[in-house]
Parts: sequence; structure tokens; C-alpha cells
Amino acid sequence: TRVLVLNGPNLRRLGVREPDVYGTTTLDDIAALCRDAGRRLDLSVEVRQTDDEAEMLRWVHEAADGRLPMVVNPAAFTHYSYALRDALAQRTAPLVEVHISNPAAREEFRHTSVVAGVATGTIAGFGAMSYVLALQAIADLIAEEKP
Ligand code: DQA
Repeated sequence: TRVLVLNGPNLRRLGVREPDVYGTTTLDDIAALCRDAGRRLDLSVEVRQTDDEAEMLRWVHEAADGRLPMVVNPAAFTHYSYALRDALAQRTAPLVEVHISNPAAREEFRHTSVVAGVATGTIAGFGAMSYVLALQAIADLIAEEKP
């Protein structure tokens, strides 16, 4: 099964961006971890990043049309993009919202996720491991669907 792992704005900057908050793991490191987890879980994982909301929406439409499961770190879009929420609401395959940090333990504006309500579930606060846990969840959900 193909799975899209979509990353929103500023996540290409991981490694140099606020390392006290996000650690020193780079997006390339995360992509490698995701592909490794994919091999173990029999998922073909494609990791993408964009700073552009329109591009993110196109990818989500692609996943919705292809019924592809998604792991999405919407980054700052999490907190205000109703357009992303509406795009994600069109999906029928599993969707896991992920965050590297734990937004609930940070500034007030990060306590609201406008996408959480249309996700299957959310994993936050485990660093790069959040992505691996999300892929594990998707593999389990897919296995439940086809017994
Ligand atoms: C983030 C948390 C968001 O609040 C923030 O805007 C990000 C990254 C995370 O992975 O911890 O860019 O999604």
C-alpha cells in the first residue's frame, strides 16, 4: 500500500530550526526513518514537504482521489487552515495527524488544531518517532480492513 507523508511549512528547516524545540533531526532523517518503517510494515512510503498551502491541498486531493492513507504534519497550517481541513475531510483512507513537538504543552495558539476533527487520530510529542508510530497505526488499520 502506498502512503503519503506530507509535511507543511518550515519543516524543511528541521535540524537548524529551533533545535531546543524540534531537536537536530533533519527532514531527510525523518524521511529515511519513514521509509525504513515502511519496509518493515510493507508500506510504500512517499515523504514530501511544502511551504505552499496550494501545493499541500493538491497533494491531499491526490491522496483523496487515490484513496491513499496519509500521515500529515500540517505544521503551522494546523492552527488556522480551514482550506486544509476541508481538503482532508474528503479522504476515505486512514489519516494520522502528527507533530514532532507537543503543541498542547506550548503557546496557547498551538492548542487548537483545525484538522484534528477530520483525522483518524493524532500523534504528537514524540519527535521523529511520532511519524513511525503513525505509520504503525496506518499499517494496523489497513490490516484490520482486510482480514
Ligand atoms: C509542529 C507544531 C506546530 O505548532 C508548528 O507550527 C510546526 C511544527 C510540530 O511538528 O511539532 O511547524 O507541527
